[in-house]
Amino acid sequence: MSEKTIIAPSVLSADFSRLGEEVDTVCRAGADWIHLDVMDGHFVPNITFGPPVIKAIRNRTDKVFDCHLMIAPADPFLGAFADAGCDIITVHAEATTHLDRSLQAIRDLGCRAGVSLNPTTPETALEYVLDRLDLILLMTVNPGFGGQAFIPSVVEKVRRVKSMIGSRPIHIEIDGGVTPETAPLVAAAGADVLVAGSAVFKGGDKEAYAKNIAAIRAASDGAMKKAA
Ligand code: DX5
Ligand code: ZN
Repeated sequence: MSEKTIIAPSVLSADFSRLGEEVDTVCRAGADWIHLDVMDGHFVPNITFGPPVIKAIRNRTDKVFDCHLMIAPADPFLGAFADAGCDIITVHAEATTHLDRSLQAIRDLGCRAGVSLNPTTPETALEYVLDRLDLILLMTVNPGFGGQAFIPSVVEKVRRVKSMIGSRPIHIEIDGGVTPETAPLVAAAGADVLVAGSAVFKGGDKEAYAKNIAAIRAASDGAMKKAA
């Protein structure tokens, strides 16, 4: 959808003891959006943070807060994430029983609505909610941890989703194992938002983050141009 790749660093790989500062630094290093991985130890085998932490870092930047909920159930907490300042709220199709209702609720809260699919969930899960969606997040790892290897079979799914959405203004976001090597594969297939945790936060300072973001951006923008 976007002509240039949107890079959304995941703060999962940031230094949590200095989270506000890390958000500030990665924004100054060229991040477009901030990706927030919320995990509940139930839908995924890990626990991270919730609305109070997001609210605490909200004043660090005006950039889009892209909230990836890996929680079940999600519906009872949507209001709290909207109040905390999330701009986009994405729920997992596998984690909500009434997907259509969850998406309506997110838009009713004034946020943009996203659906995420695990690597093995077929894209047919999206078929009846396309008009309620602003973003589709395709997982290229099994959700729960940063630093895992990219699952290449999802690249074909990106192509199929791109053709399913047609001219609808829906972002296709990729999450998991994104590096300068894997970014071109998904960008060429139609993804326009790339989440990256470990590949952005390695190095630990602004210069390293800027170099890491630039490398992913250059690799994906090149592939996007070729595909267009
Ligand atoms: C995994 C999270 C990802 C993760 C990506 O469940 O949704 O956002 O932080 O980390 P990397 O880029 O290290 O694979
Ligand atoms: Zn994520």
